Parts: sequence; structure tokens; C-alpha cells
Amino acid sequence: MTEKIFIFDTTLRDGEQSPGASMNLEEKLQIAEVLDDMKVDIIEAGFPIASNGDFEAVQEISRKLHNSTIAGLARASLKDIDRAWEAVKSAKSPRIHTFIATSPLHMKYKLKKSEEEVLEAIQKTVSYARNLCPNIEWSCEDGGRSNLDFLYQCIELAIKCGASTINIPDTVGYTLPNEFGSIFKSVRNNVPNIDKIILSTHTHNDLGLAVANSMAAIKEGARQVECTINGLGERAGNAALEEIVMTLKVKKDLMPFHTDIKTESIIKASRLVSSITGFPVQPNKAIVGANAFAHEAGIHQDGMLKHAGTYEIMTPESIGLNKSSLVLGKHSGKHAFSEKLKELGYEPGNNALMELFGRFKDLADKKKEIFEEDLIALVEDRAASYNEHIKFVSLAVNAGSFEKHEANLSIQIDNEPKMTKSNGNGPVDATFNAIKELTSTNYRLKLYQVHAITAGTDAQGEVTVRLEDDELSSQAKGSDPDIIVASAKAYINALNRLIFKKSKSIVENSAEIKIEGV
Ligand code: KIV
Ligand code: ZN
Repeated sequence: MTEKIFIFDTTLRDGEQSPGASMNLEEKLQIAEVLDDMKVDIIEAGFPIASNGDFEAVQEISRKLHNSTIAGLARASLKDIDRAWEAVKSAKSPRIHTFIATSPLHMKYKLKKSEEEVLEAIQKTVSYARNLCPNIEWSCEDGGRSNLDFLYQCIELAIKCGASTINIPDTVGYTLPNEFGSIFKSVRNNVPNIDKIILSTHTHNDLGLAVANSMAAIKEGARQVECTINGLGERAGNAALEEIVMTLKVKKDLMPFHTDIKTESIIKASRLVSSITGFPVQPNKAIVGANAFAHEAGIHQDGMLKHAGTYEIMTPESIGLNKSSLVLGKHSGKHAFSEKLKELGYEPGNNALMELFGRFKDLADKKKEIFEEDLIALVEDRAASYNEHIKFVSLAVNAGSFEKHEANLSIQIDNEPKMTKSNGNGPVDATFNAIKELTSTNYRLKLYQVHAITAGTDAQGEVTVRLEDDELSSQAKGSDPDIIVASAKAYINALNRLIFKKSKSIVENSAEIKIEGV
């Protein structure tokens, strides 16, 4: 039996720190349940001191999940630690994850603390946390740029004070694989009590090296990897869970380790995170991109027909994709529809199923062939618009080279019908102006992106919209065979998210709290 690598997922904490990616309690719970089911060892459910919303989500996840250890993040402050403990203490297996920066740059400019003061803070906070909770993880923020001799002292002290996991982050994604690996090697050779704990790696992708750095850390002794679904995370993101898990699975010869992850759930988790956050997965993204298993070049197709191993290093089935792509049509019944959804990883309740089936029939009237991607978009669209304050009802636009661009829009706000006619510089602008007028809002449009979900001119368009003001931002998707309707749906979904965030006064950029220092 090979050695186990523990998978620590931080989609709900570091992932949520990406601008526009914040999620509500229900959404976090939905993701946590999928992670729990796919046998993620540790789920970092949030940063409880950051906001009441974060606290409630961590608490609810701690109460509801049965398998994974649940971690709550805390700075090196007793208040943070109390709040984190309060949030995770009802978990079957709770963990407090506390951290302080150890690099000269962070200590001098952010913390304004000397090395002695940082050591004092470690002594005080790790011991305090250990008195509350038996499972403590300690991280040296910006470990990748820390002075090694000082790092040894900090780690030795954190272990003496009761930490059972020591995490070394490359917070700014600055190191090279051999450089990061050698930090782990040096720590193992120079910290006398290192064999008492599990070493962990946490990497960011600023130079596109997050996964390579995690692999280098594993080679040099890390046995826990911190990562996120789809590599979601601040700036360029974190190491992607699916890439780490599948690399370890595929490269067993050179990396003789295993994880307990149910890899067949990877695609489901990826799609869920993408639909909830509104962050699309790029088509050529490793493992979960739409093209990751597509073979187009004739020479490749020929090879694949002769032996799949010629161009395929892992099977699509191993991440939960199945081969059939053409699925249902206009005459398909509810049973076939619900079976297909189950195959794709969705099991809606009866009411949701009926509503989805109705939407499917409408779509089948407009579009001859319904592909899996269409069904996924249908489910995601319903998830994004379900139970929302503002609902799309109908839209008619005048467009074309000689037309005055005009949108006739009907929506419901808290079930009350509203309609208007607006002009604009093109049909999308006219539609967005109509939404702004009916909702009396005027957020900045930071991103507008359209792509076709499948091939063909009758394909559904999927639109991503990001809105922001000076404090908050939100991103969402919408889909429809008519791209102007898809645009309206995406805008309304993003607006609903932003309004929700404002009502809950969620301080979205919890990174700000993080960098305030101790
Ligand atoms: O990147 C980082 O340093 C972090 C720590 C809080 C672990 O996210
Ligand atoms: Zn991080």
C-alpha cells in the first residue's frame, strides 16, 4: 500500500476570496456536501471572523457533514480563534487553522512586528487554540519567501504548542518547483520535532506553477495538499484539486502515493462550483475543461480508434464523464430526462424535476438536438435563478443595422410584474438599460462574455456577467438559445447575487481582513 496524501479543500475559503466568487449559505452547503461525498479529507469551510455569513456557513457545514474534518480559519488573534472554534466545534472532526506571516516583507510592512514578536504570537495563539480544539493546523503565511532559519524556529515552536499539521504556503505564487521542494526538504532536515506532525503544502498559481509546486512539496515530504475545485482562488487561483488528484493517480510510477478521493465525482464538483460562482471553466483547462478529452485532429482520432491509450492518459469515465454526448429530444419522457440528469450527477426533488422538465420541453421545441451540455446549462440556470428576488419573464428586442435598438422587457420583482421599453447602443445595451431602469440599479459591468454551449447555429449561448460597485462584486451565468435573452438572464442572476450580498452585508473581500495583520 502506498502512502496517503490528505486532500484539504479550501474552495469555500481561499476560493471564495476571488473577487466575485462569494457564495451564500445554501450554495456553500451544497458544495460542502459534494466534497464530503467525494471523500475530501478536510474541508476549510470559511473564515468565521470575516462576517456573520461566513460564521453561519461554517457552523452549518460543521453540523451537517458526516465524513470530512471541518476547518475554520483564524488569524493569530484570540478573538479570531474563539470565533473559529465556535463555528467548527459541532463538527464530528473539527480543526482550527491559524496563521501568521513569517516573511521579512510581511512582518515589516503588514504586521509591523519583529521576529521575537511573531514567535510570541505563535506561542500565545497556537497554545490557546490547542486548549480549545484537539486538531490544530498552523500556517506560516508567505512561507515561500521566509528566511529559513526563522521558519525552522517558528515551526518548532508551533509544534511544541500543539499544532498537528504545519502548512507552508507559497502565498504569492512566487517559487519554482525545485525551490519550493527544497524548503520542505530543509524543514524536514532542520526542525527537530518535525516527525510529530503532518507537513502540508498550499500554493497559488501566479506563475502557473501551483500544481507543480504541490508535487515538488509532496516529493519532499508534504502529506497534505491544500487546493480548490477548478483552481478557484485569489488572483490566479490556488492549486486545482482535480489536477493534483489525477496527477497522483496517473503518475503512480513516479509518485507512489494515493488519495481517498472518489475521482468519478470530479466533474460534478467542477460543474457545481462553476455554476454557483458563475466562473466558467476554460475549454482547455486540464482534467475538467470541455476539450480535455476531445480529440479533433484526424491523426489523433485514428490513433484513438486503434487504441485509446495512444492519446489518452486517463479515461473520461475516471473523472465522471460518460461517452454519450447526443442525448434527449422533443419526444423524450420525464423518466428518461430524470435518468439522464442522474447520470450527470443531478438529483433534483420532485418539484424541481417537474420545473426542469417543463424548461427542457421548451428548449426541445426551439432546438432539435439536446446535448448533455444543454441539460447542465438548464440545471445551472434554474439553480441560479431559483428563489430569487428578480425574475426574468420575457424579452423582445429590435435589432439590426438600420433598426433603432430597443428592448421590451418584462420581469417580476418579488412576484410583482414590471415592464418597460428601453433604447441602447445595440440590443444588449438596450436590454441592460431596461433591467437597470426597472430595478433602479446602476452597477458597473466589469465582464460580459458569450460562448456557445454546443456546436451548431441553434446552440444555446451561455453568457457570463460580472457586476460591481465600490464595495462588492458578483458574477453569474445565464443560458438560452437567444443570446440576448441569455444576457438578460445572466445580468439578472448577477444582480440577484449582488443584492443578496448587500442585504447580508457580507464583507466580500475577506482578503482585506486577512492582510490587516494581527
Ligand atoms: O495563501 C495563504 O498564505 C493562505 C493562508 C491563510 C494559508 O491562504
Ligand atoms: Zn492561500
